[in-house]
This record gives sequence, C-alpha cells and structure tokens, in this order.
Amino acid sequence: MKGIVLAGGNATRLYPLTATTSKQLLPVYDRQMIFYPLNTLIKAGIKEILVIVAPDHSGQFLNLLGSLFKNHGIQLLFEVQKVPAGLPEAFVLGENFLDDDNVTLILGDNIFEDDFTPDIKNFQSGGKVFATKVPDPERSGVVKFDDKGKAIQIVEKPKKWISDFVLTGLYVYDNRVVQAAKDLKPSGRGEYEIVDLHNFYLEKNELAVKVFDGEWLDAGTFDSLLEAGQVVKEKKLFENFDPIINKAIQEFNEQLKKISKKILS
Ligand code: G1P
Repeated sequence: MKGIVLAGGNATRLYPLTATTSKQLLPVYDRQMIFYPLNTLIKAGIKEILVIVAPDHSGQFLNLLGSLFKNHGIQLLFEVQKVPAGLPEAFVLGENFLDDDNVTLILGDNIFEDDFTPDIKNFQSGGKVFATKVPDPERSGVVKFDDKGKAIQIVEKPKKWISDFVLTGLYVYDNRVVQAAKDLKPSGRGEYEIVDLHNFYLEKNELAVKVFDGEWLDAGTFDSLLEAGQVVKEKKLFENFDPIINKAIQEFNEQLKKISKKILS
C-alpha cells in the first residue's frame, strides 16, 4: 500500500491567506494542516508517500517536509501539479510512483478524528471509501444507501437532496484505479470527478463504504479552518499523532533553533 496526499490547488476561497502560502501549510492549532493527512497515512503503516503540490508552493513544502522523515523510515516524494483538473489526476500523476501497488489517497485539507488503520491495513482489492452524516451534503460527493445499508448511488454535489451521507476525502483503491482515472471523461463542470471512480467500483459491486461517526473537518473555508483548530485543541487531537510525526517535528524544531543560535553568535 502506498499513499498520496493531494495538496495542490489555489484555495481561492481562503485569499489572502493562500496568496502567500499553500492552504495545506496553514496552521491548524500547533502544526501545519498537512500533518493531519500525513498522520492518517503514517499511522496506518504506509512508508512511501507522494505529496502532490502546486508549483508556487513546492519550495515551501520541501523546506518543511524535505528531510523531516529521513531518519524515520518514511520516504516522501513530491510531484508538482501544474493546473488542478480534479482529484482523479492524483492517480495519473502518481502512476510511476504507484507502479503495481494499491493506494490510499487523502486530501490535504481533510482532518479525521478516527483512526482508519485497520481499514487501510486489511484492504485487499476493489475500493473502500468513508462516509459520514453532515448537515450540508450538497457541498460534497453524496452516497445513498438502501434499507440494508448498501451503497446504491453516488453523486457529486447533487442539487436535489438524495441523502445526508457524504464521502470524505480518504480513498483506498486497488491499482486498477490508475487506468480507470486515465479513462475518465471530464464532467459538465469541466473537471475529472472522483465520484466517477467510486462509481467504476460500485458498478462492479466492489466498493465498500464505511460509515464513521468521529469528527471530520475539511478546512477549506475561514470558518472550517478556525473550527478545525478549535476542535483539535478541545479534543486534543494532537495527542493522536503517530510518535514518528511528533518526534520528527521535535527534531526539526531543535535543528532550526540550533541554526538560529549559530547565526546570532
Ligand atoms: C471533493 C470531492 C467530493 C468529496 C470532498 C471531500 O470536493 O469532489 O466528492 O466529498 O472533496 O472533501 P471539494 O471539497 O474538492 O469540492
């Protein structure tokens, strides 16, 4: 299993904050947002991770993450996404990196309270996606279940209500997803849609949808960004981090302090 964090895009909804840095490098309480999706992957035992970034921010990502995990057995690679054209592009950009392996894709602004380690570790084939109930399903990819709890329909941002359950930004797929992503046609809004990949597996009866209750935050607006920081603080989500990440951050901070001492002396 390999991991991809999709951290590209311009995040125009967060201007002027994102005029000078990437959304995924903005702080969520005591650390940059990108550490949350990285944590979901690292906790699940994933050792090879591709981080997809926008061209303007590649240097900033490298400054923070370039050497961070090198003594911790985690290999991070970077890929630049020139123009964002939809989430499935992650699999196309990641084709060589993935080779024949399965993949867990996580969106760089998705923060989960729950630990999905067993789902990722025990994954065999097909697709596995993660749904939760929200008050505003029209903002996301929506999944409808039948009376037995089986997923029967998935639609991206439906104008007409079909269900309160949305598919969050964590996706586990087998390697067939690469070819499926390459075969996609752009949707009406001119983007490649992740729901078309869910439907690729749903039609084959190979899509598992897990419903979860824990906190899910997609920190893409001023309100949700602020809320994310508050929830992290109140629920002490920083305590849920894999020790590898906390150790790596601590070492990074110490190194920076040493360098600034040298400059001052
Ligand atoms: C994307 C996906 C959507 C998914 C959401 C989760 O939407 O297209 O299916 O539910 O991420 O964060 P976006 O938030 O990029 O508009």
